[in-house]
Amino acid sequence: MDKKLLFEVKDIKKYFLIKKAKKEEDKVYVKAVDGLSFEIYEGETLGVIGESGCGKSTLGRNMLRLEEPTSGSIIFKGRDIVGLDKRQMLELRKEMQFIFQDPHSSMNPKLTIKDIISEPLDNFRKDMTNEQKTNYIIELLEIVGLTKDVLNRYPHEFSGGQKQRIVIARGIALNPSFVVCDESVSALDVSVQAQVINLLKNLQKKFSLTYMFISHDLRVIKHISDRIMVLYLGNIMEIAESNELFKNPKHPYTKSLINLVSSGEKVKINDKQILKGEIPSPLQISAGCPFNTRCPQAQDKCFKEKPLLEDLNETHKVACFFAN
Ligand SMILES: Nc1ncnc2c1ncn2[C@@H]1O[C@H](COP(=O)(O)OP(=O)(O)OP(=O)(O)O)[C@@H](O)[C@H]1O
Ligand SMILES: [Mg+2]
Repeated sequence: MDKKLLFEVKDIKKYFLIKKAKKEEDKVYVKAVDGLSFEIYEGETLGVIGESGCGKSTLGRNMLRLEEPTSGSIIFKGRDIVGLDKRQMLELRKEMQFIFQDPHSSMNPKLTIKDIISEPLDNFRKDMTNEQKTNYIIELLEIVGLTKDVLNRYPHEFSGGQKQRIVIARGIALNPSFVVCDESVSALDVSVQAQVINLLKNLQKKFSLTYMFISHDLRVIKHISDRIMVLYLGNIMEIAESNELFKNPKHPYTKSLINLVSSGEKVKINDKQILKGEIPSPLQISAGCPFNTRCPQAQDKCFKEKPLLEDLNETHKVACFFAN
């Protein structure tokens, strides 16, 4: 099957200046995203996994230009969206949506559900009458498994799963083609998680959506992703088709994540026990491979040179000198 490219991301970097100084060499930056290059294909779910602080949310925000990348390019449908001005970006806003971790904080508690879902329509669908909007909102609610009874109620009256459905209804209101889901089910109980993931999958089929699905929970990522990208300290360690990554992980970091999940223990990768040693401070990344301080296979070379992300085969890339 021919895959159609939706995004081509080239060497994207996002550095946060956290200590100002007159001289460049005295300034201190957090390299939250440190030169990522990858593709996203139409209709797929690209899972993004990695420990807390590895740059997942920063990447998501930069993809949607909610934050300006430090450098690099993000080519969306053939056009570099880095550097587009506000007006040019406004048009693209409709096509790209963000669904956040905590549905409660992403809804204004003082607004009714109808007003919350209406927000993007008020901004972008000035052609719609009020009646058309209401009917459309009812339709959206039905799509996400809710009824029109909820229209005039307030966010605090709903469970976490219901709130997430409302946020999803708002997220798809403008018919986006690309949605970043950032820990969208992490706050939910496991059974509700599965329901919301199934809803997202159904919506994907129905509306030909493309997802970038961010999570620190490898089980969730495995369940929903076509391909998986493993991040560590702002770098891609490995990227492969989901089944391939689980069957044939090549990077020592990916291997340890997967071993942990298949051991059957109920652990999330933010838990400290996952790997020996702490994740280094992003301010003190040494030369060489970012994973060298914790890698059981590290050799001299890994402390001197940074391994590039290289093709293992057509669909599997890994950044490790000793992948084979
Ligand atoms: N606005 C900011 N200013 C300074 N540093 C920031 C800012 N936003 C993020 N960072 C830093 O960038 C790094 C990546 O953060 P990010 O939130 O992208 O990680 P994450 O992978 O989403 O983590 P989590 O799993 O905890 O959500 C962290 O070291 C974080 O402290
Ligand atoms: Mg995050």
